[in-house]
Amino acid sequence: MILNEQSGYFHQVEGWTLNCATIGAVLADLSLKSRVDTDEETIFLLDSTKTGDDALDLCLAEIASNPSPQEPRYWIERLSVHSEDIIDITLNHLVHLEIMTHHEGGFYTTNHCDWYAELLQYPNSETVGKYINSRIQRVVFTDSIPDPRDSLIIGLLNACDVTNLIFDELGEEQEQRIELICKIEKINRVISTTVKQVAVAPTLQHSPITKPIPKIPLTSVILNRHLWDRNLPALFANLAERYGPVFQMGLPFQKPRIFLAGPTANHWVRRNSRRFMTSGNYFREMEMLCGANNLLPSMDGAEHFRMRKLMVKVYSNANFYERLDDMLQLTRQFMVDQKWQEGSELEVQRDTRLLTNFQMFKVLLSTDAQDLFEDLVKWNERALLCYVADFLPKFMAHTPVMNRRFRRYAELARRIEQNHLPIQRTDVVRELADELIALHNSDPQFIPEQNLLFMLAATPVFQSIYLGDMLGFILFEMARHPDVAARVREEANQIFSDGDPSKDEFTPDQFDVSRRFIMECLRLYPIIGVSLRNVANSCIVENHSLPLREKIYIVQSAAHYMSDCFAEPFKFDIDRYLAPRNEHNDPGYAPYGLDAHKCAGRAWMHLHLTVTMLLMAYYFEFEPLPKNYRLKIEPFPALSVTRKLRLRIGRQLHEFPA
Ligand code: HEM
Repeated sequence: MILNEQSGYFHQVEGWTLNCATIGAVLADLSLKSRVDTDEETIFLLDSTKTGDDALDLCLAEIASNPSPQEPRYWIERLSVHSEDIIDITLNHLVHLEIMTHHEGGFYTTNHCDWYAELLQYPNSETVGKYINSRIQRVVFTDSIPDPRDSLIIGLLNACDVTNLIFDELGEEQEQRIELICKIEKINRVISTTVKQVAVAPTLQHSPITKPIPKIPLTSVILNRHLWDRNLPALFANLAERYGPVFQMGLPFQKPRIFLAGPTANHWVRRNSRRFMTSGNYFREMEMLCGANNLLPSMDGAEHFRMRKLMVKVYSNANFYERLDDMLQLTRQFMVDQKWQEGSELEVQRDTRLLTNFQMFKVLLSTDAQDLFEDLVKWNERALLCYVADFLPKFMAHTPVMNRRFRRYAELARRIEQNHLPIQRTDVVRELADELIALHNSDPQFIPEQNLLFMLAATPVFQSIYLGDMLGFILFEMARHPDVAARVREEANQIFSDGDPSKDEFTPDQFDVSRRFIMECLRLYPIIGVSLRNVANSCIVENHSLPLREKIYIVQSAAHYMSDCFAEPFKFDIDRYLAPRNEHNDPGYAPYGLDAHKCAGRAWMHLHLTVTMLLMAYYFEFEPLPKNYRLKIEPFPALSVTRKLRLRIGRQLHEFPA
């Protein structure tokens, strides 16, 4: 009932209230299943036999371990520690039953569900959410006699004070009826009243004496060897190990910045960021600089969910597979055009970025941006440093050179539009540009022209830089670990031995080593290792209070270098992702971010990198130049290999097809 299907998330019920209501729901269900009962004063155990529902059995076991009758309040408060687990178990169960769908980024919707409709005998023309909602509405807005389960649901909604959010046009008459429904059944009377009583003491949640946020002395940072290696995730891992998950530090003459780092912080962000943080602010100035307003990183709520659905579709596995042939051919074309052959030297940062830009712009936008790319990269890097990271003064984004570079975007957007005239787009696979232009035409308020230009031209430039930089690290690790690269090559030889695979032949089991190779590179070199958020509602993380409106640096990648999450974290080890180790299942693994803004291009990114890496392994062996080269990282604005990194193509293993 509290799911808002427009925004893909739940109406925000205050945390403690939600905990109490969750336990109320469990007790109510246990009473409907005749495991507990109430005499108004107490709740007592009737039968300790398991129900088969993990969420209920978790609480039933605890009640059975202390079977003497207790006040309802006792159980609601005592069991509330389990409420987060109960919510997780229940949501997973509903997803498993295909009643709900979980979308990347923590969004949920309900489905049309045949078996459920058959069970409850209603036409499956509406989603489960709509069906339950109208069922409960009927009880509230008519005089029908409620089923006990429905009256319990209404009682809990009332206890959480969300009836006004859920039912439109709730008048005095309906409010009185809700109060009446809450009193009809004994169990409802007891539970909803207790939840309401317990929940109105939320001050308890805010009163623990919070600890001051530790300030990190500059020397701890300056003397840290990871700073000198420019490995910021490792630096923050080290600081989190020493100072805990919340700390602050600042440069001289600057206000200290607050950081969250490590697995506990990741866990908190994944669960709570949506309630307490907003992502809007950090990107606003950057948007203004580009003349855009309210782009994806700044969106929250329903419009964010709507835009993400489009992005996830465009960057889906299915769409990538549609373009597999093109990807293979374009990658070869680039290597031939750039004369990659035995003895060639690659300028890794430049060449990998050019390659991914070439691939992405051709496949997603049918456009060539290679001649503009260098200027666009330079504009992006400087603009991010001035307007997002706050490391450079803002005027440096407005120099004549920067203005000239920025004009390249308009030129690029014009090119893309010219390549997408309706007449050119019949009988072709729909790509990013088609989707965005169509949405702009049908809903110009949702994607106004000022945003369309940015989304068509600038966003793909950012994405191709990230992909290129990731590929740079992958190439370096292939050169540094020829034994592991040989395992990737074995996969490549299998895949390409009879020519290019069709989309049906290119299945995940064929590139399992490559997949794990990429996962390990994402762990060691998380390109976007920090997410910026602002505190929208005051909150407490691990006993530290985060001030309202404060900008928070969430270093989700710090955990990648913590031995609590990853055994020997500095070791390149692709087997850590195999069962039973499955180290990526830890909240510490977060290369795609943690919350609702988690990378929407993840599926595309993985396949794109896999295909490119397999082709490289198939055709070439790479060597670092010099052989003992020690990797240096460029940490800002996102991680990349340094401009100085060179690799030599040691051997060309196959000829390119004519
Ligand atoms: C190795 C390359 C990449 C990495 C490591 C990466 C990682 C991330 C991370 C950490 C975020 C969350 C940012 C935040 O929390 O503020 C993000 C957002 C996003 N990424 Fe990626 N990304 C990569 C490449 C791509 C590519 C190639 C695409 C598209 C094809 C893409 C599409 C997106 C989108 C659309 C968002 C914004 C989602 C939202 O705001 O809801 N990313 N990415």
